Amino acid sequence: MGFGIILALGSYLLFGGEISLNIFLLFLVLGLRFYSPVQNIVSYMSLMRIMSASMERIVEVLNRKPLPEPDNGHSLISFDIEFKNVSFKYDDTVVLKDISFKIPQNTITALVGPSGAGKTTIASLIARFWDVDEGEILVGGCNIKDLKTDRLLKYISMVFQDVYLFNDNIINNIRFGNKDAGKEEVIEAAKAARCHEFIEMLPEGYDTIIGERGATLSGGEKQRISIARAILKDAPIVLLDEATAYVDPENEILIQEAINSLVKSRTLIIIAHRLSTITAADQILVIDNGRVIERGKHSELVSGGGLYSRFWDKRMKARGWRIAEKQKEIINM
Ligand SMILES: Nc1ncnc2c1ncn2[C@@H]1O[C@H](COP(=O)(O)OP(=O)(O)OP(=O)(O)O)[C@@H](O)[C@H]1O
Ligand SMILES: [Mg+2]
Repeated sequence: MGFGIILALGSYLLFGGEISLNIFLLFLVLGLRFYSPVQNIVSYMSLMRIMSASMERIVEVLNRKPLPEPDNGHSLISFDIEFKNVSFKYDDTVVLKDISFKIPQNTITALVGPSGAGKTTIASLIARFWDVDEGEILVGGCNIKDLKTDRLLKYISMVFQDVYLFNDNIINNIRFGNKDAGKEEVIEAAKAARCHEFIEMLPEGYDTIIGERGATLSGGEKQRISIARAILKDAPIVLLDEATAYVDPENEILIQEAINSLVKSRTLIIIAHRLSTITAADQILVIDNGRVIERGKHSELVSGGGLYSRFWDKRMKARGWRIAEKQKEIINM
């Protein structure tokens, strides 16, 4: 509109003899020049709004007080885990209530229970994402509050429900577990985690850039990449939160194989949703509403008549139903 007005008014003055052609042209050129910075201001304003939203989140992180970390040089030689009367709440919601259990070194412990029971919270507390409100968590006999966070995190590999992948190539995403690893080691880990084949099929193999948050990969593939990371990190404790999202049977077998190569001589805490991982565990802890309500091996719990045996019955029925449906399909074919 502004340019139109200059043109109209300028022409009127030019033809009325008020201004010369030079002045008219000068105004036209300057008018155009004048508008582009104004347009820039408008686009920067919307950018500023986005930035201020991000800034609020950054400030929130910066304002968090770091957990106290006394550096008394502890390093661990054994990796059993013990929760002693642990209670924990997020802000006002009490999530864990006076929980106690032991996880012996080099064993597999499965945490099972309804959604929202507190399983992920238990795993996060082992890595000291938060400090417990009451009780204590011991790793190798040492209260984790007395360990330097970097050192504690060196002992722990985490494979979480929501796998975070960076917008970088695959090799760097796996190497995140151990920055000094060479390409050969990365490939070894990828083979053990059953992701070598699909990576090789990608257009640029290990150098393929995966989109923001791994947008170009399937859920099962992302989980296997994160298992490869954990294998490469080679930490003595592994926290694994199995994805609840549906994975197809082929992916399920591959993930199971990947987990099998991860467990060798490590203390594994696995939040399990799949029957095969649960039955393979040395110990099952059934969590409900922030408490451990049953514990034991699969065979003991199934005959116990508690929540676990009901959960197991339901699963078996669902499976039986699926098999029956499959048989029907085959008959109808
Ligand atoms: N960061 C958080 N801030 C506040 N509340 C939280 C936070 N994370 C979890 N909670 C709450 O704590 C409770 C336990 O959550 P948690 O994630 O441990 O459950 P879960 O057993 O892992 O469930 P699922 O099987 O669905 O993963 C839930 O009621 C949840 O809403
Ligand atoms: Mg969870």
